[in-house]
Amino acid sequence: MESNKKSSEFNFYEAALVKRTELFKDCTNIVVGGGDLNADILFVGEAPGRNEDLTGVPFCGAAGKNLDKLLDSVGLKRSDIYIANILKCRPPLNRDPLPEEIRAHTPWLLKQIKDMKPKVVCSLGNYATKFFLALGDVENMNGQPGITQVHGQVREIEIRYSGLGIRDSEGQGAGAVLKFKLIPLFHPAAIIYNRTKLTPLWETDMEIVKRETRVRD
Ligand code: URA
Repeated sequence: MESNKKSSEFNFYEAALVKRTELFKDCTNIVVGGGDLNADILFVGEAPGRNEDLTGVPFCGAAGKNLDKLLDSVGLKRSDIYIANILKCRPPLNRDPLPEEIRAHTPWLLKQIKDMKPKVVCSLGNYATKFFLALGDVENMNGQPGITQVHGQVREIEIRYSGLGIRDSEGQGAGAVLKFKLIPLFHPAAIIYNRTKLTPLWETDMEIVKRETRVRD
């Protein structure tokens, strides 16, 4: 399979920010996302792993197989959601994302949210959850509560999006405002290691996601 790194589809500002990072130079594929762009629910994971890097498909390894099982247990399929990640490229040896990588890769994610307009964003695990709780301000991610504290809680999120991948400061510019409900969920990879305790919590949280998706705007 040919790598998508040179695709002419990726000739826009937010993709250029990603292409300037070392992660892009070292990766096989950019993992943009997968599923239905018209879905009401967007799942956001952390970063592509080895299988995702090789195929360009998000959540296609062990965590992805568990995600499929978890979705099935609440009557959903991949095609009922869209799924993307905080980082578009795999960090070497699956290490944690660095702040400058999150800063460079998330403008593309915010653009995806702007285009898709999901009702509900489900952040999977700590990185995605802290990014959204910090309203996209990477500097403020460390001070945010972890997934164990906030899973299943519904928060109305507003992130100002300037169209250049840089958030406007209050009152400046004519940036669009991204508005959605954030519902953090345990990461499917974490659930593999603690199935007995975390699977029922995930299923209860997903009932909240389904309820909030049905609520009229
Ligand atoms: N874990 C993630 O967070 N994202 C993927 O795409 C795969 C595994």
